Amino acid sequence: MKKLITVKLIFLYIFLTGFIFSCTKLFSNGNNADDLKSIDQKVEILLSKMTLEEKIGQMNQYNGFWDFTGPAPKGGHAEKKYEDLKNGLVGSMLNVRGVKDVTAVQKVAVEESRLGIPLIIGFDVIHGYKTISPIPIAEAASWDLEAIKKSAEMAALESSAAGINWTFAPMVDISRDARWGRVMEGAGEDPYLGSKIAEARVNGFQGNDLSLNSTIAACAKHFAAYGFAEGGRDYNTVDIGTSTLYNMVFPPFIAAKNAGVKTFMNSFNELNGVPATGNKYLQRDILKEKWAYDGFIVSDWGSITEMISHGHAKDGQHAAELALNAGSDMDMESYLYVKHLEDLVDDKKVDLNFIDDATRRILKVKYELGLFDDPYKYCDLEREKEITGSKEINDAAFDIAKKSIVLLKNKNNLLPLKKEGQKIALIGALATDKTSPLGSWRIAADDHTAVSVLEGLSQYTGNTITYSKGADLTYGKTEFVTELNINTTDKSEFTKAKEVARNVDVVIMVLGEHGFQSGEGRSRTSLDLPGVQQELLEEIFSVNPNIVLVLNNGRPLTINWADENIPAIVEAWQLGTQSGHAIAQVLYGDYNPSGKLPMTFPRDVGQVPLYYNYKNTGRPNLPGPDSVFWSHYNDEVNTPLYPFGYGLSYSIFKYSNLSVTNNFERNSKIEISIAVKNIGDVEGKEVVQLYIRDKYASITRPVKELRGFELLNLKAGETKVAKFELTEKELGFYDNQGKWIFERGEFEVFVGGNSQTQNKKSFKI
Ligand code: BGC
Repeated sequence: MKKLITVKLIFLYIFLTGFIFSCTKLFSNGNNADDLKSIDQKVEILLSKMTLEEKIGQMNQYNGFWDFTGPAPKGGHAEKKYEDLKNGLVGSMLNVRGVKDVTAVQKVAVEESRLGIPLIIGFDVIHGYKTISPIPIAEAASWDLEAIKKSAEMAALESSAAGINWTFAPMVDISRDARWGRVMEGAGEDPYLGSKIAEARVNGFQGNDLSLNSTIAACAKHFAAYGFAEGGRDYNTVDIGTSTLYNMVFPPFIAAKNAGVKTFMNSFNELNGVPATGNKYLQRDILKEKWAYDGFIVSDWGSITEMISHGHAKDGQHAAELALNAGSDMDMESYLYVKHLEDLVDDKKVDLNFIDDATRRILKVKYELGLFDDPYKYCDLEREKEITGSKEINDAAFDIAKKSIVLLKNKNNLLPLKKEGQKIALIGALATDKTSPLGSWRIAADDHTAVSVLEGLSQYTGNTITYSKGADLTYGKTEFVTELNINTTDKSEFTKAKEVARNVDVVIMVLGEHGFQSGEGRSRTSLDLPGVQQELLEEIFSVNPNIVLVLNNGRPLTINWADENIPAIVEAWQLGTQSGHAIAQVLYGDYNPSGKLPMTFPRDVGQVPLYYNYKNTGRPNLPGPDSVFWSHYNDEVNTPLYPFGYGLSYSIFKYSNLSVTNNFERNSKIEISIAVKNIGDVEGKEVVQLYIRDKYASITRPVKELRGFELLNLKAGETKVAKFELTEKELGFYDNQGKWIFERGEFEVFVGGNSQTQNKKSFKI
């Protein structure tokens, strides 16, 4: 018996050692002792071999718009960068793209520098790479987290095939100011929706396994409060209190961090007197200490140098000192770390530990990406050819484009259009534009590659379509379009357009902003339709009021006149490569619009910042007839034109049986349910939204706060029940010291199809 046990044990031993051996091989990708070490160990080993200069090199990022595939660059900056690359003084490059170029720069870093540390290759893959998805604010309007994640996943797939392994996205800046050009790049005004979307995007870019060649590192930007620029003017001063910072600005960053985002980018703005780039409170105290973030922070473009203009740094050396001490790990294009950090260490102005820490963080991400195993893993020409513009990527772009469209008005069911027998006039320069729908931030996409509205509509052949431009939107080059080259005078084609519109059944007018009218550096003081478009709209209306207005824009616009007069209005943003197909499907009813606004549409720019989660003030209501002493404007109402969360459908949804079960004392939960019935004739989707109001608190709370949503698909006549739970997590808030607190008291819960719903119940805890 004993013998048998011994034999069995020997077999077990042989089996286990064999198993362990094959596992190690499997996971180590070879049989090298180094492969068995953890990433942290590998980082430490490498760090111990590095000179101070080489460590600083890892913290240096250069832009790379020069021809690497030709002879080595001669003269000026380019030559210096090339030399730095060879000397191991560059850790990352941005804007080098395409397998050929990425391979060339990577070769210099890996094969010519002493330690051969691979570069991390960054790029602004904001809403697609070559194949473009809707601009991020449009995607946010879908409230469809799966589709948003998929869109980021496809962007990662396509860009990774072009050699890129790090995107400067998602931008998770909350903004309440439609004048700011970069609202197009975020998820709108709400921190709850913004957090869910931040998480979806990070998961989409990074996937479950960062070492795959189809996933890339993401970057939560811009830390922090960039979206709160005074007056909506880009790069402008930000001065906000702790409550806004913690309750509005931070949540999406925390969500991105919790989703495992590998990098953060700081921002151009100052926050309460200290530029974000040199802000120790933000970067070291909060992000790295309090939130225990272990990825790295890259500066924004030249933002270290900009601290001189901010009036915070004396000179470049001082700026480098402030940035590093504050926690900025990598210098994007200021050249100040490579220039000054060694001297600063010698002078004991910066701590060597900070340099080690930054280098460690950067190397770690490179290891996690698998760049040390194979620096050329993203550099496969065949793969690049196969994946770029593939059907899978275009299908996903089409899917999210449809889902991003918001139906703002549909009087007398003018939409959907009939598929046959209608005479249609299509008017507006944007209707044939194949570049503008790509929007801003789409550096790798080729101009003229979007499907235009005319092309999309032309696939439906049952109707006759006559096109007339009406008026040009811009003059000259569009790439750097600003208010200055918007057409404000030329109405010479109005008459022709009116002729085309006069005798048709329906006029479709595509109006709005050019794709380059929003984005970085593109703030506006007016939110009206730019140029002569409002006049064009009114003139066409005078000959045929049966108009469907399709808006293309990167921000909320003030369209009061249209809302009063035009029967159907479709918010179609800038929807990317598949734009025209998506718009045509919605106009013809092959896709039932399901989008909801992620940002309030004001009536007048003078109301801005206007947002749904405002505070009540001490004088919220008209106290009596003729009273002036309450919080209001004398010349405009307080309410928006379209509220946050608003959007119609070709279906009609009826909400009933709102039920609130207060189980807080038993299981710390408030359980909420509501029945939603599609009482329309067609299948449709509804975003059921739940808002809370904490009626009184030590720090006043907004009149409404989104705390849950569910996307329901309902067949005609079908009813479904949406269920939600509220716990301390949803009911608490940050106090003025940035501490999370939960206070018992009276709450209201609202559930409905937009933020103005009055379908509510109360509970006490
Ligand atoms: C922007 C960043 C961007 C960087 C690199 C800056 O101007 O603010 O968001 O990632 O440029 O292109």
